[in-house]
Amino acid sequence: MTFIDISLQRVRELQDRGLDARTELDLSGEPDSFLFLTLPTPHEGWNYDLSAFTAGTAAVGRALAASPATHTVVVRSTVPPGTTEGLVRSVLEQHSRQTAGVGFRLAGNPEFLRAVSAAEDFRNPWMTVVASRDPRTVADLAALLSPFGGEMRTFSDPAEAEFVKCAHNIFNATKISFWNEMWLVAREAGLDLDPIASTVAKSAEGSINPQYGIRGGAPYGGACLPKDTCGFLGYAATMGVDMPLLRSVVETNNRLEAVVKREVEAVVERAVPGGVELA
Ligand SMILES: NC(=O)c1ccc[n+]([C@@H]2O[C@H](COP(=O)([O-])OP(=O)(O)OC[C@H]3O[C@@H](n4cnc5c(N)ncnc54)[C@H](O)[C@@H]3O)[C@@H](O)[C@H]2O)c1
Repeated sequence: MTFIDISLQRVRELQDRGLDARTELDLSGEPDSFLFLTLPTPHEGWNYDLSAFTAGTAAVGRALAASPATHTVVVRSTVPPGTTEGLVRSVLEQHSRQTAGVGFRLAGNPEFLRAVSAAEDFRNPWMTVVASRDPRTVADLAALLSPFGGEMRTFSDPAEAEFVKCAHNIFNATKISFWNEMWLVAREAGLDLDPIASTVAKSAEGSINPQYGIRGGAPYGGACLPKDTCGFLGYAATMGVDMPLLRSVVETNNRLEAVVKREVEAVVERAVPGGVELA
């Protein structure tokens, strides 16, 4: 395995650990290989900053131009959905003067490493996601990575794998903010959040039932969830605690109810023009 990094300091650190690390990618004379893009994708305000990612991808494209082999470029960075078949494909094609699927192959393999235990998580992943339009590329990448263990999930659309990684991080961030918002209320109420949160982690169906709350397109309803979300907002307000996340939960549900109602009305209107009125 060869590591490529423009940072001389990073290259030296890797070399000091006995690893093959270089500042330039040279594919001339290399047989078919997997090229993993682990370039940085920070954010600038409310957007991803893909400038370093694009520059690194262009360098890979230029290296592909000098190689007769058919390499597989694997996007491992966390990127907005659509990047592999959009930006990566066009930058590689432009700089390699080759066509994706012919001169080189494209795939996605988002990583789930935790910063605190990155090396251990790399050696023993609990899940591996592999994506490509080309089934042979999926099979080859899955064969390369399956010896590491963990559950293998494959996708034929790289954007779905990219969405998995974004949603994975956003889910974790949302859960952390949810419990921090609850912690603010519990603290005002003089209660210890930790035993409450660990109990709810096991009692709440949303945590333990894979069918509950993880399918899109269905707002919550019934007697309890609308009552307790709105009622708890008022309870927190009595202690002067604002709950922006919980307010957004209610608003998101209200909006989805309106979307679903409009879509049902449109279906009914097509079936029975000028017909039934929905409550
Ligand atoms: N750190 C994590 O735990 C983690 C986990 C999952 C996913 N990711 C994702 O992986 C990607 C990389 O994250 P990271 O934490 O390893 O970033 P990092 O900043 O630690 O490493 C990125 C490396 O890319 C190098 N680089 C920048 N431009 C380059 C170029 N043009 N050519 C070659 N090398 C270049 C930098 O010098 C740096 O060493 C990001 O998309 C991130 O979201 C990170």
